[in-house]
Amino acid sequence: MDAPVNDNAGSGTIAVTGANSAVGKVLLAQIAGQDGVHAVALVRREAALADLPRSPRIASRVVTYEQPELLVETLTGADCVVHLAGILFESRTTSYRTGNVESTRALVAAARSAGVHRIVLVSSLGADPESPNGYFRSKGEAERLVIGSGLKASIIRTPLLLGPATAGGRALLRAAGGRSARVLGGGSHRLRPLDVDDLCRGILGYCRESGAGVRICAMVGPTILTQRELLQRTARLLGHDLAVHSTPVWLARLMAGLAGLVRTGGMTPAVIEVITSDEANLCVDRAPAVTLTPLSDTLTRLCETRAS
Ligand SMILES: NC(=O)c1ccc[n+]([C@@H]2O[C@H](COP(=O)([O-])OP(=O)(O)OC[C@H]3O[C@@H](n4cnc5c(N)ncnc54)[C@H](OP(=O)(O)O)[C@@H]3O)[C@@H](O)[C@H]2O)c1
Repeated sequence: MDAPVNDNAGSGTIAVTGANSAVGKVLLAQIAGQDGVHAVALVRREAALADLPRSPRIASRVVTYEQPELLVETLTGADCVVHLAGILFESRTTSYRTGNVESTRALVAAARSAGVHRIVLVSSLGADPESPNGYFRSKGEAERLVIGSGLKASIIRTPLLLGPATAGGRALLRAAGGRSARVLGGGSHRLRPLDVDDLCRGILGYCRESGAGVRICAMVGPTILTQRELLQRTARLLGHDLAVHSTPVWLARLMAGLAGLVRTGGMTPAVIEVITSDEANLCVDRAPAVTLTPLSDTLTRLCETRAS
């Protein structure tokens, strides 16, 4: 077991980018409940402030990645920065280049100027700067920027994240909530879903690390199962059976490619490739740093949020 940290040690001030993300809100809630830790929560829009947990331990700031001086000022005094800003779905306003690569470039430059000691980057299983897939490539390029920054760094590659606010958690509840669901490729690809609470405990652990250099690790959930099995387990917890119907992946990619002729982003062939990747085949370099929540507990909690 790879235990990187002393759970009782304080970690000073942690700056969190993409603080209004699903992961960010859970991370801030955990920080709010811990002694000896403060957070500076970075969001890009004033409206996003309303989504953040409130606590005397959390200060929030509105700053964009096109404001390098303000970014430096915001990070000054932080011991560690957790970089969560990033996207899977491109849109008219955000591409993989701006959302995943340029945001990281700006953050790394600002962290160096501000004298931040450590950066924790939440990346993705499959990240690879040479990948033909635009998403995996952008995550790999972001990793490369962090690796080349000279900062002490931890890069955490993550699988599908499950929690009430994650895109994956909401999609799972939506699909399992009915009597039948249509899934890509029959849902035969294997997943290693990770509880977002566990990820955030892992992130806080990596913030407290004292080692030099860069560590790249994968943090995955305790169970490997197919998407079909995940859906059916969730449906049973919701109190019913689920009939699973299949859409061929090639057909979905073709339709997404055609849709891409008239719109930008959304469900593109690249996204389809990501969400049907077999996570059991993707490289896992290290054991998890925290005790993992059993998948049954994660799913039970998820289903309870639907009922409430
Ligand atoms: N959820 C998963 O299953 C999963 C799996 C693997 C990796 N990850 C990675 O984990 C991180 C957190 O994921 P999440 O699901 O919690 O994210 P999320 O809820 O989708 O939130 C995305 C965040 O990125 C920010 N953002 C979007 N476009 C941006 C841009 N052009 N420049 C800078 N920031 C931008 C958003 O800010 P605005 O609200 O201002 O747009 C928001 O704070 C992301 O890097 C994601 O890629 C997630």
